[in-house]
Amino acid sequence: MTQPMKEWMDGPGVASHRAPIEQLGRVAPRSERVERLLAQLTLAEKIGQMSQLTLPEQLEADPQAHARLLGELRAGEVGSFLNARDLELRNELQRVAVEETRLGIPLLFGRDVIHGYRTIFPIPLGVAASFDPTLAEAVATAAAREASEAGIDWTFAPMVDVTREPRWGRVAEGFGEDPWLASRFGAAMVRGFQGDDPSQPGRVAACAKHYLGYGASEAGKEYNTTWVPEPLLRDVYLPPFRACIEAGALTVMCGFNDLNGVPMSGQRWALRELLKGELGFEGFVVSDWASVEEMIQHGSCAGARDAALEAASAGVDMEMVSRTYRAELLRLVENGALPVAEIDDAVRRILEVKQALGLFERPYKQRSAPPAALCPEHLELARRAARQSLVLLENRGRCLPLSPALESLCVVGPLADDRHNPLGCWSFDGDRTATVTLLAALKQRLPAPGQLRYVPGVPDARSSDRSGFEAARSAVAAAQAALVVLGEDGNISGECRSRAFLGLPGVQTELLEQLASTGTPLVVVVMAGRPLTFAREAQLASALLYAWHPGTLGGPALADVLFGDVAPAGKLPISFPRTVGQVPIYHAHKNTGRPPRKGRRGIPTGTPLDPVDMDASYLDVDVSPAYPFGFGLSYTSFRYSEVSVSPTRGSFDTRFEVSALLTNTGERRGVEVAQLYVRDLVGSLTRPVRELKGIQRIELLPGASERVRFSLSASDLAFCRRDLSVGAEPGRFQVFVGGDATASEGAEFELC
Ligand code: GLC
Repeated sequence: MTQPMKEWMDGPGVASHRAPIEQLGRVAPRSERVERLLAQLTLAEKIGQMSQLTLPEQLEADPQAHARLLGELRAGEVGSFLNARDLELRNELQRVAVEETRLGIPLLFGRDVIHGYRTIFPIPLGVAASFDPTLAEAVATAAAREASEAGIDWTFAPMVDVTREPRWGRVAEGFGEDPWLASRFGAAMVRGFQGDDPSQPGRVAACAKHYLGYGASEAGKEYNTTWVPEPLLRDVYLPPFRACIEAGALTVMCGFNDLNGVPMSGQRWALRELLKGELGFEGFVVSDWASVEEMIQHGSCAGARDAALEAASAGVDMEMVSRTYRAELLRLVENGALPVAEIDDAVRRILEVKQALGLFERPYKQRSAPPAALCPEHLELARRAARQSLVLLENRGRCLPLSPALESLCVVGPLADDRHNPLGCWSFDGDRTATVTLLAALKQRLPAPGQLRYVPGVPDARSSDRSGFEAARSAVAAAQAALVVLGEDGNISGECRSRAFLGLPGVQTELLEQLASTGTPLVVVVMAGRPLTFAREAQLASALLYAWHPGTLGGPALADVLFGDVAPAGKLPISFPRTVGQVPIYHAHKNTGRPPRKGRRGIPTGTPLDPVDMDASYLDVDVSPAYPFGFGLSYTSFRYSEVSVSPTRGSFDTRFEVSALLTNTGERRGVEVAQLYVRDLVGSLTRPVRELKGIQRIELLPGASERVRFSLSASDLAFCRRDLSVGAEPGRFQVFVGGDATASEGAEFELC
């Protein structure tokens, strides 16, 4: 008899019981130094460790602010700074903390190093499109080296918010819609940032963010409400955080969102019971920017006193930027509202991280010689990462790759000659002078006079100025082929950049219409920080390559793929809708009681009583995505066959071996990412029609075949069941192996 589903209100948001933190706290042995320091710290000094302030720009230019900040530091009122941006200032502040405070506890310096520091790599959504977590680890390793030599100890990355919302600007910062993929990329980034020993030079503490469910922001509107029942929270939004913790993430950041009515900064269930208790997280939780104080705006706290009490009780160990802890915690502990044990747990966690980073032994940083920033190795990695991130969506008549013998190529679009916008969101430390634009890369490839011509067409991606159309049209008309670079500039992607429409900004579509009227074959490159809708543009293009925001070396990477030095192998980490009206649209959707039928009747023309398709579809758009999750073309073609699973029946300790034959049916060598999807046909809660459970990158010569193999265990089939327990259920399962989420070559097995 299945148990009644526990009321979700009894789960996240409303603590069913307030277990004392001793039952929820750390399991690791406590270090002697930290315990000794904890015993010596005054309550005010402990609260100082729990406080992070931001370093204003040009601090040196403001002597009063500089003096005020040094005063707070000397008084032991600060434990960490964010936005340190130069080594000298960092070491000056660190010297004051180590040499001029009572106990000399070193500071922790944090910064948003999301996809690179001086060398900027593709945005994380683009890195995810590589379907290659080892690439993400290499990118994080390089970013850590460059950040560390600039005095940064701690990056606020990886962002592992699963999301199905392309309207949300921060979709750019994460790894897409799939929890299995996001888990592997998040863990890889943690390993890259921290290495095996985060105290070693060139390593920084990672920060898995934004815990929890932030990617479910209603309507894709930034900072918006999230309503996520516990089964969905556990199956979709939690797994990447679990993976980052298992990879050793030293910190977690809680999000701005209220989860089921309780802002994450006050979510004791999610922070203490789930994260620190059930998941055993031993590092510390930092709030997001002023998110503790924002609980007043949320309307969950009446004032700073309540906000400080809610957050400290919930398990927010460090307050970022707002100052409620410094203003209120001392009084709250002294009048018994907050047990000192909760303060001690927070400070212990913070000191343990400082110790893990080696800050007590080596509080100061020095530049490495030669500097890691923009070193040839990192630039080559940036080029490789950008190549692997590119996703080929259309290639009619094998328009691509372009021939190097091309007599005349006309390049159109301001993003082709732009050192800033291709770096994308969260790239403020990127060195723009190092950017190699697509146009610069093409000039190296097509040096002959007349071979290459560039016309912007529009002044910038969001402009409505059509005065450049005619010059572009006539230049394209005179060329053998045109390369048209369209998309979003970096300023409409990232935090607080939600868009209600997903079309190309400005008048770029009209520009493309003009160019199409010439009859010259158009190769379209789209740069964007999210899935866009571009059905009309895809019709007009002979080929369409999705480049995300490709980073410092995106130009040469695009040229490498456009001219076939390297074949594209990227796959979509998020479904692309045909229209924004389909959002949210994702591969792991439910079947419903009336799944869409194949043959469509369409809209009746007779009386309103005429039959219509009574199924889960739309009258005015095909229910499928424009491009499904996992989709990406190559310069060759692949066939999947002979999918099998063995044994076809097994118990909960059986490993089910899945295999399929992959053949390169084209005329060029190519890399394919074979994907394994599973469908649990019957569950105590309805189950998705597809769940990604494995990927394999394989390179095949023309005509070659290789058997791809995957292995599944009962734990791979686990989910949050109707009674909120987590595990697999017996029954029939289907497996599919293919090149995207519509894979149909399948087999069945039964778990008994
Ligand atoms: C921002 C972001 C967060 C970032 C933090 C520090 O508002 O939400 O991701 O790490 O503040 O810059």
